[in-house]
Amino acid sequence: MRAIQLSRFGGPDVLDIIEMPKPEPQAGEVLIRVHAAGVNFFEVLMRGDRYAVTPQLPMVLGVEAAGTVEALGHWVDISLAGTRVAAPLFASKRPLGGYADYVTIDASLAVPLPDALSFEDATALMVQGLTAFHLLRQSPPAGKSVLVTAAAGGVGSLLVQLAKRQGASAVIAVAGSRAKLNLALSLGADAAFDYGMSDWSARVREAAGGAGFDIIYDIVGGSMTAAALNALAPCGEMVFAALGRYAIGASELEAMITRNQSLRGFALLPLLSADRLRASLSELFQLVAGGQLAVTQGGRYPLDQANEAHRSLEERRSTGKVVLIP
Ligand SMILES: NC(=O)c1ccc[n+]([C@@H]2O[C@H](COP(=O)([O-])OP(=O)(O)OC[C@H]3O[C@@H](n4cnc5c(N)ncnc54)[C@H](OP(=O)(O)O)[C@@H]3O)[C@@H](O)[C@H]2O)c1
Repeated sequence: MRAIQLSRFGGPDVLDIIEMPKPEPQAGEVLIRVHAAGVNFFEVLMRGDRYAVTPQLPMVLGVEAAGTVEALGHWVDISLAGTRVAAPLFASKRPLGGYADYVTIDASLAVPLPDALSFEDATALMVQGLTAFHLLRQSPPAGKSVLVTAAAGGVGSLLVQLAKRQGASAVIAVAGSRAKLNLALSLGADAAFDYGMSDWSARVREAAGGAGFDIIYDIVGGSMTAAALNALAPCGEMVFAALGRYAIGASELEAMITRNQSLRGFALLPLLSADRLRASLSELFQLVAGGQLAVTQGGRYPLDQANEAHRSLEERRSTGKVVLIP
């Protein structure tokens, strides 16, 4: 089978297409023919060795896929054969290998897809959907004014909709282009601002009624965080989910203390037991299948053009979910 291997760190062109043996499902596992493999921004960072952890090379990238069950290991329920499933590899004992023609996963982690849910949309609901879902579960938006950063991206586009749905009093979006702001508005944001403008934090603060936001969901990090803090209300909560790009110093933390503000970390994986994963994914799948949550597809690339998929994310051209189609 074909797979996309990373054997040295660097730009998008270090992604190589290789031939490797098709995996055999072990006892308790299923073999899945991949119809869509999700691409995530953290993989772009990982490829350039800019992520919070340095992975061991060589590795086949990809932590999520959706497809059909093609073969069963011993002791797997025969009714799973041929079914359409999501494979959240990141939660399994072999968390990588999704950019490939086939993956194997423990049968208990293969989550059935409703008929109305496409393979592409299912990939959007794994890392990105679960991140949006659990960010809001950890810091609930009901009755609060909230700021969503990178609001047209994979996580951001779902976060805007779910925060609105869960009763935020105001959802303000920030993103990097006019088209992205329009997308955030179409998804239900009450207002949207370009954070390329020097006075953006004053503008969003005004949009939040002058006092600032009750909650800021920061999935961008870097120098953006310090500017966003100017828009956080007294007693407000900054939720920090941009792993590896934490860039505030002692003076910002001291200012937060004087304003009774809190800083809350967010990391998806430690929050996911197998039961919780299946329950959250099933809930997200039903929301999309039932038309209550929209997935924005931001680019379909053939497997052998994984480098182009990475380029679109890295150059900030993508919106919503980017997928590879083997
Ligand atoms: N903590 C966790 O457990 C967890 C889990 C999943 C994802 N995340 C984080 O959530 C964030 C969003 O992930 P995603 O996969 O949905 O990506 P994404 O938002 O679809 O794509 C990345 C977006 O980030 C923005 N961005 C800001 N600065 C950038 C830069 N220097 N280079 C490239 N893009 C930049 C761009 O949007 P604009 O042009 O609008 O700025 C870009 O489109 C990532 O930071 C990811 O690491 C965290």
